[in-house]
Amino acid sequence: MDVAKQSAIVTGGASGLGRATVRALSEAGANVAILDLAPDAVDVVARETGELGIVCDVSDEVAVTNALDHAQERHRVARIVVNCAGVPGDMRFVGRTGPADMTCYRKVIEVNLLGTVSVMSKAVARMIDLEPIGDDGERGVVINTSSITAFDGQIGQAAYAVSKGALAAVTLPAAREFAGWGVRVIAIAPGLFDTPMSTIVPDRVLASFREKPLFPKCFGKPEEYAELVLGICRNAMFNGETIRLDAGVRLEPR
Ligand SMILES: NC(=O)c1ccc[n+]([C@@H]2O[C@H](COP(=O)([O-])OP(=O)(O)OC[C@H]3O[C@@H](n4cnc5c(N)ncnc54)[C@H](O)[C@@H]3O)[C@@H](O)[C@H]2O)c1
Repeated sequence: MDVAKQSAIVTGGASGLGRATVRALSEAGANVAILDLAPDAVDVVARETGELGIVCDVSDEVAVTNALDHAQERHRVARIVVNCAGVPGDMRFVGRTGPADMTCYRKVIEVNLLGTVSVMSKAVARMIDLEPIGDDGERGVVINTSSITAFDGQIGQAAYAVSKGALAAVTLPAAREFAGWGVRVIAIAPGLFDTPMSTIVPDRVLASFREKPLFPKCFGKPEEYAELVLGICRNAMFNGETIRLDAGVRLEPR
């Protein structure tokens, strides 16, 4: 799909991987709606890119529907949906004080998994009425953000790894379900990327993480994630797969 002039939605677009994706899509000529929980940060990215900022909690179904209405009124129905909104959540199945607190567990699942699936389902339900475009008769593409923790979950990632593993598992059944409409679904599983989310890790742990990738031995740049998003949009052979973007890193148990 040629990205220029397409309508696009990026959740979590006010920071990190989402922000770089908003910039890349905008520079490639797409009309982007930035959906994010953080009002000030949404304003900053909307102003710096000239794109549409919408404050929206992806775990709130009514808010998602309203945000998609708003984006559609301004830009028409989106053919490109990139789900980056996500939260970390360090916890163990059995902690010092006993079994996992389900409140924390629920929060991570609600945002990372249910928020992503909710945006995908609601956006694709609109996409299927669009005219097919290009030689392949494509209607749209959804890119969800999983994580290498889907495969290499470490101790303490009881909730986060489950939420991201489920997003990897969602990819194939969703791609199969939407294929008849010409809609593709792909998940990106980033390794360690330099974003505000990674700064919550203590410096000592961060330093050791920088040594873990095979090559290059550094954190990924958000622009490298955004570049893959553009490649996936443009190349219709990407479908039904979770792509590790991780410089060959494999995480140990802790
Ligand atoms: N940074 C990494 O190393 C890394 C690695 C693997 C996966 N990821 C995943 O990539 C995605 C982006 O992460 P990032 O590193 O850019 O983090 P980030 O914290 O910089 O950005 C996340 C954005 O999501 C928004 N957000 C959080 N909860 C939301 C909600 N309920 N509704 C709407 N927006 C919400 C935040 O306001 C923020 O702007 C996340 O899903 C994260 O789990 C990141």
